[in-house]
Order: sequence, then C-alpha cells, then structure tokens
Amino acid sequence: MARVVPLLFAAGFAHGIDMMKYVIFFSTVASSVLSAAPDGAQLFTTNCSACHILDQMIVGPSLAEIRGLYDGKREDFVKWCVAPRKKREGVIEMPSMVHIGEEGLQAVYAHIMEVAKGVKIKKQAAGDPFATSSVYAERPQVRRIFMPNASPAAIAVALDQNTSLCWDAGVCRLRYAWTGGFIDGYPYWKSNGSSVAAIVGTVKYTEEKSPFGETKNAKFLGYSMKDKLPIFSYAVGTQMVTERFAPLKESSGFQRTFTVTPTPSSALVLNFTKQDGVTITSDKGTLEGTKLTIAPADAATFTITFTLK
Ligand code: HEC
Repeated sequence: MARVVPLLFAAGFAHGIDMMKYVIFFSTVASSVLSAAPDGAQLFTTNCSACHILDQMIVGPSLAEIRGLYDGKREDFVKWCVAPRKKREGVIEMPSMVHIGEEGLQAVYAHIMEVAKGVKIKKQAAGDPFATSSVYAERPQVRRIFMPNASPAAIAVALDQNTSLCWDAGVCRLRYAWTGGFIDGYPYWKSNGSSVAAIVGTVKYTEEKSPFGETKNAKFLGYSMKDKLPIFSYAVGTQMVTERFAPLKESSGFQRTFTVTPTPSSALVLNFTKQDGVTITSDKGTLEGTKLTIAPADAATFTITFTLK
C-alpha cells in the first residue's frame, strides 16, 4: 500500500498570515495508514526544492550550507522552518513550513543531513534564481502551492509535458486542467506567501462543482503516491472515494479513475462540466452529454477520459 501523505493545511494563509488557522483534512478512516513515518525526501521535493538545491544558493541557501549550520541541531532546524526569520541580505523571506508538522520536518532534516554529507558549496550563478531551479521541469510532479481560483489547500499536479491540473483538497475536487506548461512559482514566492503561482499555459477545462454534487460534507482524507502521481482520497457522506489522474499517451488530457466504496445502494450519478473543446468518455456506465450514470456494481472502479483540444 502506498503511503498516504498527511496534509496539514494553513487555511486563510493566502490572505494574510495573521489569521492563520490550521485545519486537518483527514479523519479516522485514514489514520491507520497515516501512522507510517513521514517520507523526508518526498516532503523536501514538494515543499523545499523550489528554493533549495544541493550545492548552490538559488532562492535560499544550499543544502550543503544548511548542513553546515544545522548538523546535530535538529530542534533548531525545526524551529527555523516553523518560524523563519530575515537573516541574509538580498534574499526573500522564507515562508513558514509549519504545515508540514514537527515529525515531517524532522524527516526533512534527516533527508537533508544525509544527502548533503560531504557536498562542497558552489558559487551562486548570476541571474534569475528560479531559472537555476529546474524543479518545475520535472514530470510528473506534485506541488503544494497557492493557486489561482482555488482554496489555500490547492495541489498542483503536472501529469506530463502537456497537461497539468489543480486539485483542491479544501473542497475535495478538481478545479481545472490546463495544457502548455506547468506553473511559475515566482509571483508567489516573490510576494512571500500572499499571492498565488502563475499558470503557464491555457486552462482548457474548469470543473464547476464536484461530480458528486454538493460536497459540503466531503472530507479530505489525504493522498498517496503511485508512479509519482497522486491518488486523492475523500469521503462523500458514507462513501469513500479515491480519484487518480494519469496523462493520455496520444493527446492532451487526462484519465481520471474513481473508486467508490462500499457499493452504493442505487446508481451513482456524476455530473461533469460541459465545455467547448473537451471530449469526455467513460469505460463504464451511460454518458449523456456530461452526465454519467454508473450502476452500483460498476462503482468499484471506473475511468473517465478527458481529451483537451
Ligand atoms: C520560497 C522559497 C523557500 C522555500 C520553499 C523554502 N525555503 Fe528555506 N530559505 C529560503 C530563503 C530565502 C532562505 C534564507 C532566508 C534568510 O537568510 O533571510 C532560507 C533559509 C533556510 C534555512 C537556513 C536557516 C539559517 O539559519 O540560515 C533552512 C534550514 C531552510 N531554509 C530550510 C528549508 C526547508 C526545510 C524547506 C522546506 C520544508 C524550505 N527551507 C523551504 C527560501 C525558501
């Protein structure tokens, strides 16, 4: 079983740190899986790698420099990450990483101390520090970042070179998908947490609401990773839903595989959003326009394909 990444989001972060309020988006359903030790390497990639690389100062100091400062000082390291200060001249302020939690930050610490062992610091390259950071070019990738038209708990996913999407853990649903590139974090980082990342490319599909309808009672249970792509878990009423995204091989777009447990007592009706240039097909059930009806027996797993022009 893939490990479920615990997510602790700072709701209200986007509009000022003063109203920080931490909401835990998972329930007891997932807690048995969540007790697994946090993956420091994974947490580092998602939360730190845009600004810190191994041997060179980019936006923030290199891991080699961090190791020099914090080797044997794990608690000081955690303290810094929870409440970073302004220390160096000519750099942005590091945003707080409090949402990762103490245990997660300890795992990040162990990861940094390990990978930076014996590494020599190189001189900083001139120019835009973000151009040096190649992390946004990796495919696939998952990034926790503030996104336009989404709650502060948005997760950006680059499926492949063509297609990316924004899944919003705050409301348990896909917000939109775009083609072209991925994201540019610079506007976000430059304004130090008060702004959102910029989408690189064109939004082709915007989902107006959850396919399950009103999901005021939807509860985010976390996500697990498989083949570097996330599987989102959430509860809608008494139903446990997982949603997994995969890129299409032949064209722009994505496949979306749902599992629903336990078997529903009547047919499931899912409504997607009608949009020009978007073709929707399903491997099960009956699709009338953008309305999909799935028989209870087929609800265990079904895949919808979205082709984007
Ligand atoms: C948006 C960019 C950004 C992200 C993301 C980021 N940092 Fe930083 N970090 C910085 C900057 C900038 C500094 C230097 C701040 C200063 O000196 O004023 C810094 C400094 C540090 C330092 C050195 C503290 C010291 O005493 O000099 C540590 C340790 C650190 N970051 C850890 C992390 C970890 C761990 C993560 C992820 C969990 C992370 N950072 C994510 C930008 C970032």
